[in-house]
Amino acid sequence: MSSNESLANLLREERRFAPPAELAATANVTGDAYEKAAGDRLGFWAEQARRLDWAVEPTETLDWSNPPFAKWFADGRLNVAYNCVDRHVEAGRGDRVALHFEGEPGDSRSITYAELQEEVARAANALTELGVEAGDRVAIYLPMIPEAAVAMLACARIGAPHSVVFGGFSADALATRIQDADAKVVITADGGWRRGKPGALKPAVDEALTRPGTEGVRHVLVVRRTAQEVEWTEGRDLWWHEVTGRQSATHTAQPFPAEHPLFILYTSGTTGKPKGILHTSGGYLTQAAYTHHAVFDLKPESDVYWCTADIGWVTGHSYIVYGPLANGATQVMYEGTPDTPHQGRFWEIVQKYGVTILYTAPTAIRTFMKWGDEIPARYDLSSLRVLGSVGEPINPEAWVWYREKIGAGRTPVVDTWWQTETGSVMISPLPGVTETKPGSAQRALPGISATVVDDNGAEVPNGSGGYLVVTEPWPSMLRTIWGDEQRYLDTYWSRFARRATDADGGETRVPLYFAGDGAKKDEDGDIWLLGRVDDVMLVSGHNISTTEVESALVSHPKVAEAAVVGATDATTGQAICAFVILRGAAADEGDALVAELRDHVGRTLGPIAKPKRIMTVAELPKTRSGKIMRRLLRDVAENRALGDVTTLTDSTVMELIQAKLPSAP
Ligand code: WT7
Repeated sequence: MSSNESLANLLREERRFAPPAELAATANVTGDAYEKAAGDRLGFWAEQARRLDWAVEPTETLDWSNPPFAKWFADGRLNVAYNCVDRHVEAGRGDRVALHFEGEPGDSRSITYAELQEEVARAANALTELGVEAGDRVAIYLPMIPEAAVAMLACARIGAPHSVVFGGFSADALATRIQDADAKVVITADGGWRRGKPGALKPAVDEALTRPGTEGVRHVLVVRRTAQEVEWTEGRDLWWHEVTGRQSATHTAQPFPAEHPLFILYTSGTTGKPKGILHTSGGYLTQAAYTHHAVFDLKPESDVYWCTADIGWVTGHSYIVYGPLANGATQVMYEGTPDTPHQGRFWEIVQKYGVTILYTAPTAIRTFMKWGDEIPARYDLSSLRVLGSVGEPINPEAWVWYREKIGAGRTPVVDTWWQTETGSVMISPLPGVTETKPGSAQRALPGISATVVDDNGAEVPNGSGGYLVVTEPWPSMLRTIWGDEQRYLDTYWSRFARRATDADGGETRVPLYFAGDGAKKDEDGDIWLLGRVDDVMLVSGHNISTTEVESALVSHPKVAEAAVVGATDATTGQAICAFVILRGAAADEGDALVAELRDHVGRTLGPIAKPKRIMTVAELPKTRSGKIMRRLLRDVAENRALGDVTTLTDSTVMELIQAKLPSAP
């Protein structure tokens, strides 16, 4: 089977869902947006930039004279925090709730825009008192509590780029990030609530700050959340409530140039140390705000929006803090895990706040499927009107389950493809426009140019697969890797280029942004993401994507979740090795079921895609951002000692998986 034959198989997915008429009739964005933006891409983005309040309106949209170093709206000046908070208060909307915070232990707190304005002002004044100036870096290591958003906005307000480090990361990971960005202040908490227990954060900060290269940290601001005992370094450590409590509740925001750095966010590289992805202000906020408005059809007066991501990921940056707040949204922020104190917690929250727009990840959706349909069925979910997915390819079965069991078969599902590097959504259906296809992110948003190319960088025809590239710069693109321009060039811009004519009529080559993802275009030209290119297996010379085989496995009624890896094989190059989690009662069916699953994949994708081995397991190893760590499963499949497991949510998972294995394949 060639990869095109396997494409044909994948595209046997023929279910189609038209946008609901009512939503389409009042949608924020209509179908003509694509043509309008294609006709005048820069004019389109200049118009979107007017969603923001600029202290100095930009006259220049894009400077691409030195690719791949872009400047967007470079002569404009604005304050990002002012745009996310103050302007809503000044427009008379100070009483609107910005955040409905739901703590894991059940405490809750609603914060209006007017209250948020005061909190951000106090925090900005506090940072200034501690000597933080525009350009200084501040590390934020907090649980999912309102202070996380306040801290980010306070940094933005004074022009101090933040580097948020996910609260689940170790002291090591924190230390590396503090060193790389040379942070001056760390904002943390005593701890946060997770699975019914207080989890400590402060000890990791204390440990990180013993490492060489972190001496630049002058102060640690500590939010009190769990009331755990904490060690205290006099002179360095300060309670957040004490320092912010003594500040004025007003603060005049200074405008910064559009290209002023807003934040650094670290993302893991395939090798070596994490990459500090740098985002700047005007272009980033423009695209975060526009995409949040367009993709979720946000109506700020009536919607209650909930993104379940953690603030430590880019999704939390763009779709909890910057996009929604720039748009004046009312949103839910939840501290804990979906199964605490019970497996209906998410649905209880949707019911309690009347959530209308829900944005979550495929891994969560598959977990809910595994827990059983009866759990969401106990709650009133009728307020929901748009459902979003992000983080990895969503298999058609999970997509359809999400739409039917959570969205009552009414709500559009928008599968949003983007990356830490892209800053905002790039490829996604529009809920009032697109006839959706389960499992496909479908089409680049208005103003975005993306396509699929072959090994030589030539665009593939419809019906073929290759590599996803972005062919034109976009406002929220990363500007560089912090402190490593060469790595920025090498990682993203060196693989593919397009021929073009320069100003003097000569031929030049314009670099294309390589996203690192495999993708296919179907007969309609819609894009299907196939996972990272290193997730493609080569079996007897055939390209088979792990995603396709996983989708085929999960489409079997007895399978809840699947992870597929290619294991080195003496005859076929790689052999397909699958790890599956079975649904409830199927767990005891043993060998007969394994044979049934192999046949099922054979029927769905073709005989070449039949897994050589299928192992049933209770859990899969996942990173804290919900991505399956196929690298570890490959170690298991190839009988190697396990590599680094420190970024797993639960490192005991691997012991359980190994214990189940026969000694050799
Ligand atoms: C990688 C980026 C985007 C914010 C969260 C992850 C994968 C993301 C999708 C999707 C298929 C997806 C890609 C991408 N990915 N969304 N809708 N369909 N794949 O950000 O940690 O920077 O990861 O996540 O492989 O390259 P990230």
